[in-house]
Amino acid sequence: MKILLTGGTGYIGSHTAIELIKQGYEVEIMDNLFNSKITVLDKIEEITGVKPKFYEVDLLDKEGMRKMFEEGKYELVIHFAGLKAVGESVEKPLKYYENNVGGTINLLECMKEFGVHKIIFSSSATVYGDQGVSELTEEMQTGVGITNPYGETKHVIEEILKDVAEADPKFEATILRYFNPVGTHESGLIGEDPNDIPNNLMPIIMKVSTGEIEKLKVYGDDYDTVDGTGVRDYIHVVDLAKGHVAAVKKMQPGISIYNLGTGKGTSVLEMIKAFEEASGKKLPYEIVGRRAGDLAEIYANPSKAERELGWKTEKTVEDAMRDTIKYLDYCASK
Ligand code: WQD
Repeated sequence: MKILLTGGTGYIGSHTAIELIKQGYEVEIMDNLFNSKITVLDKIEEITGVKPKFYEVDLLDKEGMRKMFEEGKYELVIHFAGLKAVGESVEKPLKYYENNVGGTINLLECMKEFGVHKIIFSSSATVYGDQGVSELTEEMQTGVGITNPYGETKHVIEEILKDVAEADPKFEATILRYFNPVGTHESGLIGEDPNDIPNNLMPIIMKVSTGEIEKLKVYGDDYDTVDGTGVRDYIHVVDLAKGHVAAVKKMQPGISIYNLGTGKGTSVLEMIKAFEEASGKKLPYEIVGRRAGDLAEIYANPSKAERELGWKTEKTVEDAMRDTIKYLDYCASK
């Protein structure tokens, strides 16, 4: 099966490309390289022996996408491409709606024109908004209390996929709601390497450990959690990538929705401790005020993916920290 990965040189896309190639799938990658580097293709080749065909195309370049689909003759699209900086989305909502929603409409129109009926969409736990409980399950109502335009775009795209599935009986869409991806490939050759200023905890911890950022700001220690700091479900990116392979194997008509998480919550202070144990050095941090829009504690109920996809996480936060240190050492050696 020939699969197109939009945003495939990104953090999750590149790890997914590796797992798909290992399973014998033919993978092609489309990316605008706004928040990733083309050298990732060489790393994918170093790890798998295969260098995926690459198209430098933007989601808003519909003609460029049409040419790619004309050549590609794909059977399935995994749609990672999108802007994902929560803070920036608050400042620039139109940029996020145009790129994420408008770009996805372009993609879906190309799929329709060229007879591609299967899509796996990279969604996010952020679509749950504030459910008032910590453990999140797929049948919960989404789109209520989402605190940023980035999360709204993910919700709107989910709704678009549901409506397209209603209108087209041949359409098969699987929505994967990620929790908090962390870690790197065990080779240490690829990892989270954003071009933009990171918002997420792990890339910031990585930059604090290399000295690029002076210290980590812990956003609040007065939540009703195990130690007062925010609790999230940190899933190893390789487990996440394998979740996509499991989804590829179980595509079906209509809409399928799955949480991809560990089912376990870890606090910010526990993440700091895990990183310090893996790195053998103290991580400078200070407790500051809460970040607007943050919830106290959220984690996945991943039982539906286990039941229907035969997938569950195998790696731990400690594995993610170990692999991240290996990646940092590799980056420092270049
Ligand atoms: C995690 C925890 C922070 C940074 C976001 C998106 C979500 C998904 C994952 C894409 C929280 C704390 C963080 C820092 C801190 N992204 N923190 N200091 O907010 O759970 O989710 O990323 O799909 O859509 O909303 O992730 O990594 O920003 O924060 O204390 O410098 O770390 O308060 O408790 P979040 P995060």
